[in-house]
Amino acid sequence: MAINHFILVLISLSCLFSFSASSPAPSPASAPFPSEIQSFNFPEPEGQKHEQELTILPVSADPSLQRICGDTDHPIECLTTTVPFLGDDVKIEPVSILKVGLEAMGNKTREALAEASLLLLDPSTQEAVASCLETCIDSYNAILDTNQKALEAIAIRDLYQLSMELSSNVENVHACSDAFEEAELESPIKEIDALLEKMISNSLAIGIDMVHF
Ligand SMILES: *[C@@H]1O[C@H](CO)[C@@H](O)[C@H](O)[C@H]1NC(C)=O
Repeated sequence: MAINHFILVLISLSCLFSFSASSPAPSPASAPFPSEIQSFNFPEPEGQKHEQELTILPVSADPSLQRICGDTDHPIECLTTTVPFLGDDVKIEPVSILKVGLEAMGNKTREALAEASLLLLDPSTQEAVASCLETCIDSYNAILDTNQKALEAIAIRDLYQLSMELSSNVENVHACSDAFEEAELESPIKEIDALLEKMISNSLAIGIDMVHF
């Protein structure tokens, strides 16, 4: 079931991205899963000039990891943010992937916090934007706090507390983009913020649906 789901995700991704690939993409029906899908170019979000190429490693990624990530809403982000941090000694199971994911999310949140703080200090930042950035900074601090509590819940195998913390981070992470949306302003940190939203959504999917103690 999980494998089928992942194949579907990969097939739909390959359809989605095939128009931007330089060589003709194999038709989904003939594509051997998943070794041919080595890399693809993301369609560029508006306003983003440079070409962003993202490579995933379905060939070497552990099948159990592919299954776990395949059951999240953002399997590519799940793989790319965890694969580089899985040492040989890490057992591939939902709880270990969740822990690495939370650590990666904490790192990304600290990056976002640094970006937002720099912009806030920049005198050329509009006052209305600065006020939204303050909301983002508060929400990122809350995420770090909650992240820590989620890790503590894992340590004491408290599934209920874990799900509470993971859910509350979904709320925390939307505060930043909501602030910009309400002010009808373009967020200068929308990319890192969007990645954080995906990482948090994935941690919720893994923590709630797959982790059992
Ligand atoms: C998080 O950041 C620390 C310090 O930079 C690094 O050692 C660690 O590998 C990172 N972990 C993840 C999962 O990103």
